[in-house]
Amino acid sequence: MSRELMQQNIEKAQREIDTKKEMIKNGKMRQHYHFMAQTGWMNDPNGLIYYKGKYHFFYQYNPYNGFWDSMHWGHAVSDDMLHWEYLPLALAPSEPYDNHLRGGCFSGSAIEHDGRLFLMFTGTTNEGDGFEQTQCIAYSEDGIHFEKYEGNPVLTAPDGIPTDRFRDPKVWKHGNMYYMVCGASRDNNALALLYRSEDMFHWDFFNVLAESRGEWGFMWECPDFYRLGDKYVLTFSPMGSGEHTAVYLVGDFDYETGKFDYHVNGEIDWGFDFYAPQSFLAPDGRRIMVGWSNEWEWMPLWKDWGPTYKEGWCGFFNLPREVRVMEDGTLQFVPVAEMEMLRENPEYQDSFVVTEEEKELKAGEGVSFELKMKIDLEKTDADKVELIIRCGEGKKTVCRFDFKNSELSVDRNEADGWSRGVSRSTMFLKGKSELDIHIFSDQSSLEIFTDRYQNNHSSNIFAGDRQNQLKIRAYGGSAVISGYESYGM
Ligand code: FRU
Repeated sequence: MSRELMQQNIEKAQREIDTKKEMIKNGKMRQHYHFMAQTGWMNDPNGLIYYKGKYHFFYQYNPYNGFWDSMHWGHAVSDDMLHWEYLPLALAPSEPYDNHLRGGCFSGSAIEHDGRLFLMFTGTTNEGDGFEQTQCIAYSEDGIHFEKYEGNPVLTAPDGIPTDRFRDPKVWKHGNMYYMVCGASRDNNALALLYRSEDMFHWDFFNVLAESRGEWGFMWECPDFYRLGDKYVLTFSPMGSGEHTAVYLVGDFDYETGKFDYHVNGEIDWGFDFYAPQSFLAPDGRRIMVGWSNEWEWMPLWKDWGPTYKEGWCGFFNLPREVRVMEDGTLQFVPVAEMEMLRENPEYQDSFVVTEEEKELKAGEGVSFELKMKIDLEKTDADKVELIIRCGEGKKTVCRFDFKNSELSVDRNEADGWSRGVSRSTMFLKGKSELDIHIFSDQSSLEIFTDRYQNNHSSNIFAGDRQNQLKIRAYGGSAVISGYESYGM
């Protein structure tokens, strides 16, 4: 019976998508090359996996409206992470443990087990005082049609962990065992709980992988844990810790004791819109991470769910990024090489000098483009360099390299009449001879990578097609730019 109910709910959602998708496709703010759902609201990446020769992306999804509500899992496949084929929804709410108003099938992950594709997700109901969360399993023979396990839930919150703060399982295999990390909270401090299992159905608590002492919030959403080189990486999105949207810890891990000794921490992205990243292994061994290009904490301030809501949709993923570890244990987040396949109309420029007079630059048609350049620090004496992006009709977004105060900031206060805020990070340039900059602009987003992909800002802006000029200027001296290349996309 319940299997039928999920099927009915998937078909109902599918009919809704079919009636709206053509209209929504034409929305003015739809992205050109970022992953999006066909209609409605989407948030976290779920169950990212390379399975049977294709990239599979699942995502938190409300097909009915452009705002968050009862959660389904959307599903799409691709050969290159650039062109996507949408498949039927993988999960829909249908059971007592995931079937209540504003609950549903919350975030989780995917793994191959026993020749089948397994999904592990958080079943959430919203009864009484708040969300009730448990960990659940679904599986599929063909990688398209899923069935929830009859014995769900497979795991409930342990003593001392609030049942509304126990979610987002990320599962992996090591040796003959399965391991899972999920986000939780204890005494109002966030933590990541580590479990293990021999068969994917019976789970035992193993250890606390890491814990906030207040500095990283009261709850970690969407933790992820993996080996990178000879190190281990834990990432999570903290709730209640100010501007930190996605944090990484790097250290050593012992499978015997379940102990994670971390000695490096950092910020994955300083922008306003990078949240709940998850990662997977590509067949060539790359560790690829994908985030949701949005953030809960600022959204309610705007009250109206944003301009794309009016077009019947909201949400997209950031560009997939390859995660690399440097010798000192810090991480780099490099847009995947596949992006180069989208390049059109290249522009190259020899080294040039930027003064206090605004200089116009060219990158595609100025809306959807990629841009790379370097600031030659040895030949630059300016206090500040500004890159003025998506500008026109009195609107602009300003990327400011403030050498005097060692600060990189991205100011979207005048971007579109709606977005607000200035994201800021420290530039560590001592001893460096150049600052590398790599920017991806799409219809509604800007992703700015600098300093060897370690100091990055991703933020959404909802600028129109007439915001298509690109300018640069210096303050208090001049700057020398080298290696300028740009492409339309
Ligand atoms: C993170 C999150 C997860 C939860 C999901 C619900 O963005 O809040 O913790 O599983 O979104 O859609």
